[in-house]
Amino acid sequence: MTEMDIHALPRFPLATLPTPLDELPRLSQTLGVRVLMKRDDLTGLALGGNKARKLEFLVADALQKKADVLVTGGGVQSNHIRTTAAAARKAGLDVVGVFFSSPSGGEINGNLLLDEILGARLVYANANINDTERAIQAVCDELRAAGRKPYLIPVGGSTKLGCLAYMLAFQELQEQLRAQKIQPDAMVITTGSCGTHAGILAGVKFFHADIPVHGVTVSRPVEECRARITRLVKETAQFVEHALPLDDADIIVHGEYVGEAYAKITPAARSAIFQLAQLEGIFLDPVYTGKTMAGLIDLVQRRVLKQNATVVFWHTGGIPGLFAFPDDVLGK
Ligand SMILES: Cc1ncc(COP(=O)(O)O)c(C=O)c1O
Repeated sequence: MTEMDIHALPRFPLATLPTPLDELPRLSQTLGVRVLMKRDDLTGLALGGNKARKLEFLVADALQKKADVLVTGGGVQSNHIRTTAAAARKAGLDVVGVFFSSPSGGEINGNLLLDEILGARLVYANANINDTERAIQAVCDELRAAGRKPYLIPVGGSTKLGCLAYMLAFQELQEQLRAQKIQPDAMVITTGSCGTHAGILAGVKFFHADIPVHGVTVSRPVEECRARITRLVKETAQFVEHALPLDDADIIVHGEYVGEAYAKITPAARSAIFQLAQLEGIFLDPVYTGKTMAGLIDLVQRRVLKQNATVVFWHTGGIPGLFAFPDDVLGK
C-alpha cells in the first residue's frame, strides 16, 4: 500500500484532528529538558483520549461488515470501553462492555458512570485480565446465537487497524514537528494493551524517522509487552504490505513505574499529577499518564534522557479516572 492507499482506507470520523502539540515551558525549565506534549487527551470524542483514533478504523470496519453491536472489554474504569460506547452510539450501534473485575465497593463513578449514561450493556466476567478476550468472545457467541451481528474489538482496540491509526498519528506529529523545525530526541508514551506503542513504532519505521519510542508499561510485564509489540508491528506491516523491520533495541519498555499493580497509583505518579496541574494547568490520570509522566521525570533524573534533550510526551487521556480514584490521587 502507498501512503495514499492508507489514507483512503474506510474511516468513520470520530476524532478532532490534528490534536495540538504544546510546549510545556514551566515543566521544561524545572526538568532541564524541552518537553512537548502531543495532546491526544483532546481527541474530543466523549472526553477524548487515544482510543478515538483507533475506533475511527474499527467502527468503519464494523459498519462495512454490517455489524449491529460492538463488543469489547477492559478494567472496570476502562477508558477504552467508555470511548467505544460513545463511538457505537455515534454510529447507531449497540455496545457491550465486558469487565474483568467488579466495581470496588459498588460505586458508579468515573468511566463507569459515563458507560451507564451511554447505555452500554455491562458484563462482569470476574476473569483474570488475560481471560478477558475469552469472555468477550463468549458474549459475541451469545449475541450471534440470539441473531445479532457482533463486532469484536479486543482489549484496548489493539489490532492492526488500531495500530494503523497510530501510524497515521505519528505522521500527524511528524508534520507538526517539521513545520516548527523541531527534531525530538525521544518520545515517551504509555504502554497498556500495546497498540498505541506498536502503532507509533510502525509510524517511525514507515515514515523513516529516527526517534526512540520509550514506553512505560502500566499493566503487563515488560517481556509480554515486547512480544505484543513485535506481533502487532508484524501484523501492521503485513496489512500495509510494507517491511517494517524492528531491531530488539527499537522496542523500549520501562517496567519500573507500574508500582504495586495496574490501576494502583504510585507516589511518583501522584506527584507527577500535581506537578503537571500546578506547573502547566494540565490534568494527567492516575492509571496511565500519571505513571508515564513519573517515568519521564525519572528518566531525566537518571540521565537516560539527557539534559537539554527535546522530548515529546504523548498525553493519551484517561481523565475520568481522576474522579474514580479521588482518595488515591489525594494520597488518603
Ligand atoms: C488513558 C490511556 N492511555 C494509554 C492507554 C494505553 O494504550 P494502549 O492500550 O494502546 O497501549 C490507555 C488504554 O486503555 C488509556 O486508556
